[in-house]
Amino acid sequence: MSGKRAASTKRATAGRTAPAKRATSTKRATGAKGGAASPRGVEVSPHLIERLVKEARAVRERAHAPYSRYFVGAAIATKSGAVFKGCNVENASYGGCICAERGAIMQMVAAGERHPVACVVVTAGERAGSPCGICRQVLAEFAKDMTIVMVGLTPRGETRRATTLRRLLPDAFTPESLLG
Ligand code: THU
Repeated sequence: MSGKRAASTKRATAGRTAPAKRATSTKRATGAKGGAASPRGVEVSPHLIERLVKEARAVRERAHAPYSRYFVGAAIATKSGAVFKGCNVENASYGGCICAERGAIMQMVAAGERHPVACVVVTAGERAGSPCGICRQVLAEFAKDMTIVMVGLTPRGETRRATTLRRLLPDAFTPESLLG
């Protein structure tokens, strides 16, 4: 779809795809303050998850990972229904490597959006890769919780694991933590 757009439009919307329907996210009750989180994270429609999987798979093809050969694609949906994508970009100076999830978050912020509701991460392998610690922290900057789906591509198809940010990063240090 975006391939048909004029080049200038493409540049202006790099990393972003047109919003579909507004993401129907309903936060579930989260129980005790700062404690027992909803096991469901933020509810998003199966349709939106499928769209994120498709986008994350596609952007993974663009990963720059000549050192690890571990290619990652991530797609994040926001409350508004917009989708932002990122792939890992490695560097000969290894410390300069950036993960796919953070790439997607950078695109989201640059587009003026701040409310992620779901993140899909696609890697190769039976055991789908889980977001690294730094990426979990960066995701937690923008949402108390969100749905996280990890997809592992296998020769015969794919495996999926669904979880939540709260589960991946319990007792997170967040912007509210600074308030004491
Ligand atoms: N990587 C990601 O893109 N996301 C993660 O959550 C974990 C790791 C990338 C970084 C590096 O380019 C490669 O995977 C191997 O660590």
